[in-house]
Amino acid sequence: MTSAAPGNIVPPFISGERAATVTPESTAARAAQRAAVHEVYARAAEEPDTSLCCVDGGAWTLPDLVVPPRMLEMNYGCGSTVHPTDLTGSRPILYVGVGGGLEALQFAYFRRQPGGVIAVDPVAEMRAAAAANLAEAERLNPWFRRDFVRLVDGRAEQLPVDDASVEVVAQNCLFNVFVEEDLARALREVARVLRPGGRFSTSDPITPRPLPQALKDDPTLRARCVSGCVTYDEYLAAHHAAGLQQLVVRARRPYRLLTPADFACLDGELMLESLELLAIKGLRVDAEPDIYAGRCATFVGSGIWYRDDKFPFPAGTPMQVSDRVAAELARRPDFRVTPPTFHARGPGCC
Ligand SMILES: C[S@@+](CC[C@H](N)C(=O)[O-])C[C@H]1O[C@@H](n2cnc3c(N)ncnc32)[C@H](O)[C@@H]1O
Repeated sequence: MTSAAPGNIVPPFISGERAATVTPESTAARAAQRAAVHEVYARAAEEPDTSLCCVDGGAWTLPDLVVPPRMLEMNYGCGSTVHPTDLTGSRPILYVGVGGGLEALQFAYFRRQPGGVIAVDPVAEMRAAAAANLAEAERLNPWFRRDFVRLVDGRAEQLPVDDASVEVVAQNCLFNVFVEEDLARALREVARVLRPGGRFSTSDPITPRPLPQALKDDPTLRARCVSGCVTYDEYLAAHHAAGLQQLVVRARRPYRLLTPADFACLDGELMLESLELLAIKGLRVDAEPDIYAGRCATFVGSGIWYRDDKFPFPAGTPMQVSDRVAAELARRPDFRVTPPTFHARGPGCC
């Protein structure tokens, strides 16, 4: 697809859907999954379902932001994807899977311009609920106008915007519901619509070990963000495979405990975690991703040591490094490398 004006909305039928391996089984599984997702979220749009997705901690509060109570009840995310430090350029923010509109409103709080946030959702009932919540937000917040958020019918797997036309893409607790093929498709779409250097801010549950097939094959459990999640390594690898080179782990915390009493196919308890990730579209994609998981390397010599003659490591100062560089420096006697905090800031020196 050719580029047009930043954030231009294009009809889905000309959006770039790449070829994927399609079998009758995968087609049937995708159709069943889509139907279950539609049913769950059409219902959750009409009657807020507080058992869907949330993690402890509630939503961000911001100065002069009054969130309508119903919008708050429809917080179906499992973390936060709203980070003002991501909003460096002027192109629109694309929010995928609007839910009740809470994070679209929070992004609009920082952007404050008509069409500054494009929110895509294929479930008409959810778009209608978000529109009503945003109208109420306009009534409650003098600084907010409902046209700051443009609600658009569309799917993550075929985003209705042009190539390289948006600054930031965000999704919260949606991509985990997709079967593998749709996840790969949705991530390629994110990479397609982001400008080079653009940021994908994302939050999803992950699992410490692969889930039993019987759970993975249950479309309703998947749709409810319980059984579609993959492991940490698989989640990061899927983002890298789509063309997102730099991966920054922003947060990782307990999300939900699955027990054999609730799910007989489990052979033991399983604590799912919620992972917040920032994935940056680089100008190049290497064979290995640059993963920032919060590891720091500290030079214990004297003065300043330079890596590759350009990246300074002042003695005694912990510097954030990627997992790859951490592994390299951990082999040196004049460096101390700390374990991952899973609370990283973003690419620093290397
Ligand atoms: C778990 S909810 C998350 C809502 C919101 N992100 C939040 O944090 O509250 C998933 C949302 O994605 C929407 N959705 C479902 N399938 C989708 C798809 N294929 N593409 C985009 N959005 C989708 C649902 O209608 C719902 O609004």
